[in-house]
Amino acid sequence: MAAPAVRSMFDPKDMMFRHLGPTGLKVSVLSLGGWLTYGGTQKGSIVKDCLQAAWDHGINFFDTAETYASGQSEIEMGQALKELNWPRDEYVLSTKVFFGTGRKEPNTRGLSRKHVVEGLKSCLERLQTPYADIVFAHRPDVGTPMREVVEGFTQVIRNLNLAYYWGTSEWSATQIMEATMIAEKYNLIAPVAEQPQYNAFHRERFEVEYSPLYKQFQYGTTIWSPLASGLLTGKYNNGIPEDSRFATNASFFSSTVEQLKSPAGQAKIEKVKELTKIAEELGGNATQLALAWCVKNENVSTVILGATKIEQIHDNCKAMQLVPKLTPELMEKIEKVLDNKPKPVPDFGRAR
Ligand SMILES: NC(=O)c1ccc[n+]([C@@H]2O[C@H](COP(=O)([O-])OP(=O)(O)OC[C@H]3O[C@@H](n4cnc5c(N)ncnc54)[C@H](OP(=O)(O)O)[C@@H]3O)[C@@H](O)[C@H]2O)c1
Repeated sequence: MAAPAVRSMFDPKDMMFRHLGPTGLKVSVLSLGGWLTYGGTQKGSIVKDCLQAAWDHGINFFDTAETYASGQSEIEMGQALKELNWPRDEYVLSTKVFFGTGRKEPNTRGLSRKHVVEGLKSCLERLQTPYADIVFAHRPDVGTPMREVVEGFTQVIRNLNLAYYWGTSEWSATQIMEATMIAEKYNLIAPVAEQPQYNAFHRERFEVEYSPLYKQFQYGTTIWSPLASGLLTGKYNNGIPEDSRFATNASFFSSTVEQLKSPAGQAKIEKVKELTKIAEELGGNATQLALAWCVKNENVSTVILGATKIEQIHDNCKAMQLVPKLTPELMEKIEKVLDNKPKPVPDFGRAR
C-alpha cells in the first residue's frame, strides 16, 4: 500500500525563527496569543481568520491558557486549529496551567501535581489536541513544594506525553533557578523558557533580574504585551477609542486608564509621539517600531502578538521590515526617547 502523501502547508515567508531557549524547538520571532481576544471579545470565524493571517505571515507559534476567558480561549482556538487542519508537526502550541478556569474548588488551580496533570488534560480536551508543545506554569505556586511542581511537569512530559517542554510565567529568577537545580539534582525535567511581560515601558525584570538565566541556562522567553496592551501603537494618544481594549475590557483596565491621566501617563504618551516620528522616518509606524525593538533583543525567543482584527496582524508583521533598520545609532536614539534603561547589576569589572 502506498504511504500517505506528505502534507506540507507552512510557508515561512520572510519570518525569522529562533530556538526556544536551550531546546531544539524553533519558534517564529512573532507569535500569536489569545488573551482577552479569542473566546473573549472575538468568537467564531474571526478567530480562524486571525490564525490564518498569522500563519500566512510565517507565524508557527500560538499561545493560550486555561484561564483565558475561563477556558473559552482554548475552545475557540482549538476549534479554529481543527478547522484549519494544518499538519500538527508544523505548528507549535502552548497553554498554561495555574489559575484554573474560574472554579472555586481547592484543587482546580495551582501547581499541585494533581492540578498540573488534570489541568493540562482539561486544556487539551478544550483544545481538541493530544498534546501541547509547551505547557507553562502561569504563575509560581508558593503553596506547593518546588520539588512537587517540577515532578508534576516532568510527569506530564515524561510519563503522560501531554507536552514536550515546560516553562514558567512571571516567576522570579530565584524561583526559576530553584526549579532548574531541583530538576538537575533529582533527574527531573527543567523548565526551558519564561513568559514575562516585556515592552519598551516595562523592562526591569526582563533586562536585569533575568539576565543570569540567559547566560547560565540559555533560558528562553516568550514575551507578552509587547505593545503594552496597545499603548505603544499610539491609539490612546487622544483618548480611549470605543472598540479598543481599554474600552472593551474597561473594568480590568480602569486603573491603567486612570494612570494615563497622571503626569507619568502623559509622559508615556509624549514618548509614543516621539517614537512615532522615528518610526515614520524608517518607513514604518509606532506599532511596528515597538515590536521590532522587542525582536531586536536577542534574549527574546518570540514576541507574542495579540490581535482583535486581521488588519492588526498584517500591520504588526511588517515590524519584521524594521528590524534590520535598527542600527546601534538608532537604538541609541530610541533609548534617549524612552529614558528608562534599567541599571545593570554591577560586575565590578569582572564581566566576560
Ligand atoms: N503569561 C502571561 O501572564 C500573559 C499575560 C498577558 C498576555 N499573555 C500572552 O501574550 C499575548 C499578547 O499579549 P497582549 O495581547 O497584551 O499584547 P499587546 O500587543 O500588548 O496588545 C494586543 C492588543 O493591542 C491592540 N493592537 C494590536 N495590534 C494593533 C495594531 N496594529 N493597531 C492597533 N491596535 C493594535 C489589540 O487590542 P484592541 O484592538 O482590543 O485595542 C490587541 O489585542 C496574549 O494573547 C497572551 O497569549 C501572557
